[in-house]
Amino acid sequence: MNHLTLDDIDCFSQEGYLIFEGLLDHDLNERLKADVDQLMVDRQKGERPILMTYPELGPLTSEPSVVDRVADLMDRQKFTHHHIHASLHLPGEGGAQWHHDYVQPPQTNRSHVMVHVFMYLDGLNGEVGDLLVMPGTHKKVMNNDAFRQFQFKDLPGSRTVDNLASGSIIIVHSALQHARRPKSGGSVYKRYFIDTSYCQAGILWGGYPNIEEINRVALERGCDRHGKYAFLYDTSQFFDRLSHTQRLKAVNKGSLALQL
Ligand SMILES: [Fe+2]
Repeated sequence: MNHLTLDDIDCFSQEGYLIFEGLLDHDLNERLKADVDQLMVDRQKGERPILMTYPELGPLTSEPSVVDRVADLMDRQKFTHHHIHASLHLPGEGGAQWHHDYVQPPQTNRSHVMVHVFMYLDGLNGEVGDLLVMPGTHKKVMNNDAFRQFQFKDLPGSRTVDNLASGSIIIVHSALQHARRPKSGGSVYKRYFIDTSYCQAGILWGGYPNIEEINRVALERGCDRHGKYAFLYDTSQFFDRLSHTQRLKAVNKGSLALQL
């Protein structure tokens, strides 16, 4: 069963995240680690590959055990894939200060759902980097960097996730404040990390400049699983964030309500 319970959905709307320990099938998890290893080799060579070209990372964006759960958070609306990122965090890896990743210039409402799915292929064990989350912050409208001055600190009500089984995923509302706290590292643990992201249909979302190419590659490689998940690779759901951010700068004075 790839679906969420009503309790899951309620918990997500209150807290802004859901943890699924050991969700990814062992064999898939191992193949994904091999892809991330290869990605690191390719990046070392100075390449900037599209992740959809990797045999496991591409199809991961439509992995039913993940995407069908995400679907249950989208209020019966369709949704689109926003991005996939992957990395291998080694001892000495820096952190990511408190922030959120909800793509909305300017930040004015939370009318539609955007989620990030954090995937920890080797789990978390308190070495290299912990995940911090601040439950409920996805319901507040604020700039991405509103908590940045707190860096990696525990805050009243914040939670630390530092103990997860291999193949665990966390579905996070993209507007939830979170951080990666750097740790000193242990002996052998490497922090395999992938995140995918999905946006609810009904509005346009700020996308990457090469989203059209990314979606073309995804479809060419069959990431849509014989059409069943073709809706994930729909470029018409996006606008060019950079050019609109420039336009916004020019008009963002006083109350925007007066400019409607
Ligand atoms: Fe983030």
